[in-house]
Amino acid sequence: MSKVALVTGAGRGIGYAIAGKLADEGFNIVVMDIHEGSVVADAMKGLEDKGVEVLYCRADVSNAADRNAMLEAVKKRFGRLDVLVNNAGVAPRVRADILEASEESFEFVMKINLQGPYFLTQQIANYMVEQKQADDAFNGCIINISSTSATVASPSRGEYCLSKAAMSMMTQLFAVRLGEFDIPVYEIRPGIIKTDMTAVVTEKYDNLIFNEGILLQKRWGMPEDIAKAAAMMARGDIAYSTGQVIEVDGGFTKMRL
Ligand SMILES: NC(=O)c1ccc[n+]([C@@H]2O[C@H](COP(=O)([O-])OP(=O)(O)OC[C@H]3O[C@@H](n4cnc5c(N)ncnc54)[C@H](O)[C@@H]3O)[C@@H](O)[C@H]2O)c1
Repeated sequence: MSKVALVTGAGRGIGYAIAGKLADEGFNIVVMDIHEGSVVADAMKGLEDKGVEVLYCRADVSNAADRNAMLEAVKKRFGRLDVLVNNAGVAPRVRADILEASEESFEFVMKINLQGPYFLTQQIANYMVEQKQADDAFNGCIINISSTSATVASPSRGEYCLSKAAMSMMTQLFAVRLGEFDIPVYEIRPGIIKTDMTAVVTEKYDNLIFNEGILLQKRWGMPEDIAKAAAMMARGDIAYSTGQVIEVDGGFTKMRL
């Protein structure tokens, strides 16, 4: 039976590109997102047209009951789960200076970007260990989509930076814990990627990329750039590199003189 990959937040953007690329690789796909099914129907059909099975779970990653229901649905439909991609994430609803930003915004971002993925990973990691113990040939992995914001400070969205920095530690924690089961845990740090999330700051980023030259490679990153890195991990190409962090950012975080 084909391997199964769960991609959170794959209704659109980076997650959708990852789901598409993994479908190209022959994975059956589970999409977890908060959109109504009708909103993502065409997108899900696009995945099915690649010849794989697709299960859409309308579920909020920050909600424990939703996570439980989703995992039950996956077990019932496929009876296995080989790859988890923690991709769902949000920016603060408003960018606010850290001298003023609200506790409400902090909680909103942290619950979706950190607490939800952390406990989803705990749950799926246990399921992966179960599968490994039942069959030593089990070859799963976990991929966390963090951000350059894990290391680059933006004081106008401190809560986002904190959530992504913590996700980097989450990668290391699960890599350490799952090492004995040979289940690798990886992290991808996207830079500036053209999606709905960055649509509100297109002008600012156009200026930074094309006039200010903040990137070594002077173009927007595309969701497919992230998807290719995720596919490499999901295929097992770097299976002996647990805890590895790949920056897909056009050289944004490279020091220069
Ligand atoms: N776009 C960028 O420049 C960029 C850069 C670095 C990191 N990232 C990260 O990549 C990931 C994907 O970003 P994107 O640009 O594709 O964003 P996006 O807003 O285009 O897509 C995010 C998807 O996640 C879903 N989602 C939001 N909250 C959810 C929840 N509670 N439960 C389940 N799904 C939920 C949304 O409905 C949406 O379909 C995010 O974690 C983001 O932080 C993006």
